[in-house]
Amino acid sequence: MQHDKIEKNVGLMGVLVAIVVAIGGIVEIVPLMFQAQVVQPLPGQKPYPALELAGRDVYLREGCYGCHSQMVRTLRFETERYGHYSLAAESVYDHPFQWGSKRTGPDLARVGGRYSDDWHRVHLINPRDVVPESNMPAYPWLLERRVDAATLADHMSALRTIGVPYTDDDLAGIPAAVRGKTEMDAVIAYLQGLGRHAPRRGSSAPPETAQLDGGGSASGAAPE
Ligand code: HEC
Repeated sequence: MQHDKIEKNVGLMGVLVAIVVAIGGIVEIVPLMFQAQVVQPLPGQKPYPALELAGRDVYLREGCYGCHSQMVRTLRFETERYGHYSLAAESVYDHPFQWGSKRTGPDLARVGGRYSDDWHRVHLINPRDVVPESNMPAYPWLLERRVDAATLADHMSALRTIGVPYTDDDLAGIPAAVRGKTEMDAVIAYLQGLGRHAPRRGSSAPPETAQLDGGGSASGAAPE
């Protein structure tokens, strides 16, 4: 029997599994590459300003993504809690994106503006001071470390190489933008910018993204 042959030959099984998975992957991924709303920024969307980019680097280095996703799904209980569901275009300048699915803590895609800078500072120095039951680690060292303009310039030009539209002025402005700033300032600036491009609560998605909605009424995007 054919099955017998496959089940008793790990090598052959591996190759066939790889082929089946590859077909599944291609069917899902390739169409996305040709959909404009997936690869185009939203109107008025700009790459991260220098300080926010520095904050994003801190976010990655500290592994915040290990507990926090940045993707509000198109489900009612998600949009009720966080706000408008995430649009692919919001992450167009993210390399790598921070969508994720691991949520030990809440999703952060819409956290910008929800708290004051001071709240974030206290929370990051010791989360228990503002949320007594929190099991989030403390990050007090962010207060002591300065943002390094040279590293940031390298990062920004690297992003430019892969298509993020930073200008020469953006690069030249880095030292002024981060002078005297700590990593704490940077990560707070980054957090406060999250969700900036999200459609307002209750508004419908921009027409060209409407199909991301899945067409169902479960999206929660419709106003009450
Ligand atoms: C071990 C898991 C874990 C890690 C790592 C972690 N967090 Fe959290 N975070 C949580 C939990 C749990 C909460 C909810 C309780 C609280 O507010 O402290 C939370 C809450 C938050 C909130 C408030 C969100 C809201 O909507 O109320 C922010 C902002 C936040 N974290 C930022 C960060 C940043 C920035 C980092 C990395 C420097 C980080 N977290 C790392 C678990 C984590």
